[in-house]
Amino acid sequence: MTQRTSIAATDFKSDTVTTPTESMLQAMLTATHGDDVYKEDKTTNALQDRVARMAGKEAGLFVVSGTMGNQLCVRAHLHQPPYSILCDYRAHVYTHEAAGLAMLSQAMVTPVHPKKTLYITAEDIASYLILGNDIHTAPTRVISLENTLGGSIMPIDEIAKISALAKKHNLKLHLDGARLWNASAETGIPISEYGKYFDSMSLCLSKGIGAPVGTVIVGDSALIERANWFRKQLGGGIRQAGLLAAAADVALTEIFPDKLKATHQVAKKLAQEISDELGITFQIPVETNFIFLDLDKAGIDPQILVEESTKLGITVVGARITIHHQTSPEAIEKLKQALRNTVAVAKERPRSEPDGIAFSSVYDNIAPDFMQN
Ligand SMILES: Cc1ncc(COP(=O)(O)O)c(C=O)c1O
Repeated sequence: MTQRTSIAATDFKSDTVTTPTESMLQAMLTATHGDDVYKEDKTTNALQDRVARMAGKEAGLFVVSGTMGNQLCVRAHLHQPPYSILCDYRAHVYTHEAAGLAMLSQAMVTPVHPKKTLYITAEDIASYLILGNDIHTAPTRVISLENTLGGSIMPIDEIAKISALAKKHNLKLHLDGARLWNASAETGIPISEYGKYFDSMSLCLSKGIGAPVGTVIVGDSALIERANWFRKQLGGGIRQAGLLAAAADVALTEIFPDKLKATHQVAKKLAQEISDELGITFQIPVETNFIFLDLDKAGIDPQILVEESTKLGITVVGARITIHHQTSPEAIEKLKQALRNTVAVAKERPRSEPDGIAFSSVYDNIAPDFMQN
């Protein structure tokens, strides 16, 4: 089958830019056409079952996006406000879902900063739990983790400790697993092993996995039934969903785990080359498919990198460089050239402190470079 060159080949903005492959488009042609709101679509049911099985969970539900997946899971865990959700202060569910927790779940948020590590630990979380019956408070009901977060992998033994803490206090544990596939491909830990610790997981198929649309949420049957109710309420019931599920199913087969892991190797090699040749360092270690250039430390205005990249026909939107399965080797060479040009231009145009915005460090502040989709 001839493969058209993807428009994503030169785009380093995100792994969400990946485009459907010929085999995904072919699969769409043979998908079943049942109405998924009536649960009558075989292709969609099969994908939901497949992902649920991979996660070691009773049931799965195909939803349009990672945002909807997170919001439905959290909402389905909750019953009667007042209550709070505890999560990392950088978590997508808190910072990038248009106040969904406030609007859809009427929840307060307890954002937690990690003290010593790149990820929040059970120890960090324990001191922020809101427990008991004090009528002034909004008690914690759900802890929401994210793995990977900014491309960093949360160690499974830390997840186990957080799960034990949640169980001890009768709290639900949710995972924003938009990129759990990356963590699993990199560590070799099966999705089902991660699944043991969570009451719900939202697993995106339209990021590194490469599907055009879709996330599957997983949990026990009662939770997924409740989530389906809220999905309908949000207008998220898709009628002939099989067309989308078929593409997502192929994406999962084709990309996970080997092609996904290969994107991590490309990212690590590229980071090493950038560091060796140009002396640029990184905001955090490169563990999966994201590279966070430390442009502050290098004294580089991100706008120069954006401009130099555009001149060479590649898309870079700031300090975060994303590698995905369609990133082309030619684009990588162009990116290295854009970085060389950027360093040269930056010598002439040194970076100055922007008005009113302090330069950030991932350890000190909310890091704007993390705050991308
Ligand atoms: C960690 C994480 N969770 C959730 C989402 C939301 O996914 P979507 O854009 O499909 O709503 C994103 C988006 O990139 C994400 O990075």
